[in-house]
Amino acid sequence: MIELENISKTFNTGTHSEKTVIRDLNLTVDKDDFITVIGSNGAGKTTLFNLISGNLKPTKGSVVISGKDVTRDPEYKRAGYIGRIFQDPLLGTASNMTLEDNMMITAEKGFKWLKISLNNRKRAYFREELKQLGMGLENRLKENVSLLSGGQRQALTLLMTVLSKPDIVLLDEHTAALDPRNAAMVMDLTERFIDSHRLTTLMITHNMQHAIDYGNRLLMMDGGEVIIDISHEEKKALTVKKLVAMFNDIRKKEFETDEVLLA
Ligand SMILES: Nc1ncnc2c1ncn2[C@@H]1O[C@H](COP(=O)(O)OP(=O)(O)OP(=O)(O)O)[C@@H](O)[C@H]1O
Ligand SMILES: [Mg+2]
Repeated sequence: MIELENISKTFNTGTHSEKTVIRDLNLTVDKDDFITVIGSNGAGKTTLFNLISGNLKPTKGSVVISGKDVTRDPEYKRAGYIGRIFQDPLLGTASNMTLEDNMMITAEKGFKWLKISLNNRKRAYFREELKQLGMGLENRLKENVSLLSGGQRQALTLLMTVLSKPDIVLLDEHTAALDPRNAAMVMDLTERFIDSHRLTTLMITHNMQHAIDYGNRLLMMDGGEVIIDISHEEKKALTVKKLVAMFNDIRKKEFETDEVLLA
């Protein structure tokens, strides 16, 4: 589904602040992969997502998606098949618009397959979909999204992303701004949606336990490289302790503290 071939990204080339943040990275992501991505601050995780989404162009190497070289395709072209959710719940939906209008915009992007024209039918469809979230949002279609809590808003963003029928979903610490209860709720929804829609997913998290518990494959990044790539049975047998030990062994240095990853 995604092939990153010998990708590098250098910022501020030729200046004193030149910095290579992705180094000769090769990665093949399969259609059914749900990959969790961990690594300390500055490891290059978000930059990796920017290279996949087209928000950044690689300095070297190519990005191939579904067999097509999209390295030079701008972000808006890739947005048709890539859904991305950020840490900040305010980014996924438009605050000064109602739930219904927010969903209507998604409808225009992804619901063409549904061929629903009557507004009443659309409303009924939105209501039905919102019910799945189990938050009572189906009765708040006319309210502004700004009235929702962070957790509700992130759940709505997740639903809208799924309804837009992407092939690939990139989650960048999408539960990090939520309290533990809401984070667990959004993670639960995330897993349900990924399973039922069979979405190819990469999820960045600083929660090592989440990285171990969710998905079929785990990547650890450090200094712009993937230093650990674990899947299947080996992933199931992982513990936070084992991961930290593996990091120390590979890098021959200690994590400054576990908080670097868990922050
Ligand atoms: N546009 C940019 N210009 C210059 N440097 C950048 C730019 N974007 C990112 N960087 C640098 O690249 C490095 C990797 O950043 P990135 O955001 O990918 O890290 P991350 O792994 O997502 O970290 P975090 O866990 O803190 O989100 C950092 O040192 C960052 O300062
Ligand atoms: Mg980041």
